[in-house]
Amino acid sequence: MNLFRKRSIEDFKESSQRSGLKKKLSSFDLAALGIGSIVGTGIFVATGQGAKLAGPGVTISFIVAAITSALCALTYSELATMFPVAGSTYSYSYVAFGELIAWIIGWDLILEYLVSAAAVASGWSGAFIGILQGYGIHLPEMLIKTPLAGGIMDLPAILITAVITWLLFIGISESAKVNNIIVGVKIFVILVFIVLGVTHVQPVNYHPFAPYGFKGIMSGAAIIFFAFIGFDTVSTAAEEAENPKRDIPMGLALCVIVVIILYLSVSFVLTGMVPYKLIDVDNALPGALSRIGITWGSTLVAVGAVLGMISTLLVTLYGQVRIFMVMSRDGLLPKSFSNVNKKYGTPGTCTIITGVVTAIMAGLLPLEIIIDLCNIGTLSAFILVSVGVIVLRKTMPDVERKFKCPGVPYTPILTIIFCFYLISSLSIFTWIRFAAWLGIGVAIYFLYGIKHSTLNFSSDTRKKEA
Ligand code: ALA
Repeated sequence: MNLFRKRSIEDFKESSQRSGLKKKLSSFDLAALGIGSIVGTGIFVATGQGAKLAGPGVTISFIVAAITSALCALTYSELATMFPVAGSTYSYSYVAFGELIAWIIGWDLILEYLVSAAAVASGWSGAFIGILQGYGIHLPEMLIKTPLAGGIMDLPAILITAVITWLLFIGISESAKVNNIIVGVKIFVILVFIVLGVTHVQPVNYHPFAPYGFKGIMSGAAIIFFAFIGFDTVSTAAEEAENPKRDIPMGLALCVIVVIILYLSVSFVLTGMVPYKLIDVDNALPGALSRIGITWGSTLVAVGAVLGMISTLLVTLYGQVRIFMVMSRDGLLPKSFSNVNKKYGTPGTCTIITGVVTAIMAGLLPLEIIIDLCNIGTLSAFILVSVGVIVLRKTMPDVERKFKCPGVPYTPILTIIFCFYLISSLSIFTWIRFAAWLGIGVAIYFLYGIKHSTLNFSSDTRKKEA
């Protein structure tokens, strides 16, 4: 068996044409899709965790994470416009590196999508509980805390995942229009936060700026990277773009620029208005506004955040289901993952499995552990994307790239260095968990994928089966 057997670009074109998805998204829709999946728990909730590690210097952590994400977006766009198909990094690496590595990346992307969905559900729960408490409603501790925090489960996180899974199951994947509205709400409440907060900034709060030094800032950046995850959702929708080669790089650029401006402003205002030690790690932005006495603003931002995170969850779970579908189409996952439910026209089984696993993680694991795992998985996937850009320039120089990453090989090399540096700033426990995850993935490949891959069959048989 050849572990490095590859798919061809033609192969992808065929299966993407078979998918029958309509091409209707503009670059503006794609940017909004990206912002919809990027802006969520990370900025509204996890900023507090970053500030705990870095102090007011978390603004620098945001800059480091932003540079890393922008670099990743550059390298990623080249691949995304070379192979405008669903399935994201997984599909590109099937062409660049062959089946085994593609499977590992696909397995890795589960950390980026499914695990990040769990993180968003968990963060949603934090903000939701904050709103209830603002109205004097206190849910039993046992039902809002994970076992490691002394409770039984985080019930709100489980319930929101169940609701979103049901929506996806019956086919209410967010329409571009609804997404655009929700993105508007998110941007609006972030601007409200900035405008209300900036008049309460006290320069004294910026001293000391980096209480835990450079190490603290980098650990903060490794957490904050989470807040930027999601820009590649733009290219998972490549099959639905009007003109993928033009719209994807434009959509990506627009969404990354908007997000960077918003995030840097938020972190600077947040650490200026509240001493970093007093920032609420479970509910950073609304908590900060209520601390300075603007209760209405706090409620407004929390409600916007809770609404906004619902869309993040929807888009992220949708992305995961799409990736599972493509992997199943290739035979590396059971066929049932790409079976379409007759009544609703959605991949029902796959949606339910994805939802149940997400709910279990969100309900039982603390947010910090989920975020760390998600970050290490995503950073590793982007390292491989960057390697892919360099390798494909050599092995497939003639394939048209509508967007060419500037400065190859230096830009991808710089991207790899940044990603490695952030990974090295995560804890050793995270590395161990990640290694265990990869081990399980490789075992599944050898027990299942290698035997069922459609590459075992001739191209004609595959066409007939489809
Ligand atoms: N970037 C996404 C968030 O912050 C995953 O929730």
